[in-house]
Amino acid sequence: MNIAETLKERRAVRNYLPLEVETAKITKLLEAATWAPNDRLREPWHFYVIRGEAKQRYEVAAREYLQERFPTKPNLIQESLIVLEKTPLVIVVTSDIIPGDEASSEDNEYATACAIHSMWLFAKELGLGLVWRTRGIGLVRDERMYQLIGSPENKKIIGTIFVGYPDTEPNPTVRSGAENKTTWL
Ligand SMILES: Cc1cc2nc3c(=O)[nH]c(=O)nc-3n(C[C@H](O)[C@H](O)[C@H](O)COP(=O)(O)O)c2cc1C
Repeated sequence: MNIAETLKERRAVRNYLPLEVETAKITKLLEAATWAPNDRLREPWHFYVIRGEAKQRYEVAAREYLQERFPTKPNLIQESLIVLEKTPLVIVVTSDIIPGDEASSEDNEYATACAIHSMWLFAKELGLGLVWRTRGIGLVRDERMYQLIGSPENKKIIGTIFVGYPDTEPNPTVRSGAENKTTWL
């Protein structure tokens, strides 16, 4: 597949078959991520692979978070937890914060976003589907997620990546066209 097709066919995949993702494939996915562009080769990303027992700890943290955040929405909480339960693999991706250097810390976040996108594109070649989550069950802005990954110093969580073998075809999406987003000066 050429790059234009790969870019257009990448989709957020949120439903997975009940199959574990092999360690060899996870390694390939992470290897692909590390080839992303990054300023001054700081390689500012770190990947926390969550599966098995660690995923059960994630579920406990997520339940607490969701109950606190959505106290009047028990159905939403239940649905979110089912999503997590049915996701075979989660990878939390952080970006290095450089104390006292806001600009470089920001550039690190951009590079980490590129790394996540690389994984997203490469997943298909491995037969996998994924979605980058930040909201709700993604827990990226919650202290509990930091604790789950070991409270690393000077790292910001950029995304929680849900991964698995696709079950249903993902929903098609549309774009408004570059012409509507471009100003030629
Ligand atoms: C930074 C970022 C955060 C996102 N957070 C979520 C999320 O919390 N939950 C979710 O279901 N999808 C999330 N997505 C996926 C988008 O919803 C998805 O890309 C969008 O619906 C377009 O679909 P497509 O990627 O299949 O074209 C996120 C994507 C990005 C780039």
